[in-house]
Amino acid sequence: MAGNRTFTMIKPDAVGNNHTGHIIAKISEAGFRIVAMKYLRLTPERAGEFYAVHSARPFYKDLVKYMSSGPIVAAILEKDNAVEDFRKLIGATDPAKAAPGTIRNLYAKSIDANAVHGSDSDENAAIEGNFFFSLTERY
Ligand code: CMP
Repeated sequence: MAGNRTFTMIKPDAVGNNHTGHIIAKISEAGFRIVAMKYLRLTPERAGEFYAVHSARPFYKDLVKYMSSGPIVAAILEKDNAVEDFRKLIGATDPAKAAPGTIRNLYAKSIDANAVHGSDSDENAAIEGNFFFSLTERY
């Protein structure tokens, strides 16, 4: 059975371009409940740790630099079938391939500055949520 929680980050490009409110509204309108949320800036070390799974990929260095370049919003979201439904809401990783009306289609600029992150499995949703939030920070 699919889990009911996912994890997201609104990335530096979207926060810097004042899209935070619009993106949170889209998430809420799509039926997700916000379980935890915080505004912060990642250090390069923490960004590297978060994306360690990509450390062998050619884009890793730029990704870490980019994700620590400005503030982000991290959140845990709740809804039935959360991981899959959220990935549909945000669209393809490359905004040029994201379906019309998806968050990346509306707000992302490039595959690096792609507005939002969404967990790709229930297991990673739990790992990523735990990376940012302690048990007493969720509701
Ligand atoms: P995200 O869902 O946060 O997970 C890893 C990120 O790496 C991805 O979004 C993109 O922003 C970034 N990235 C850069 N180049 C690529 C690529 N070729 N394939 C996948 N992700 C990429």
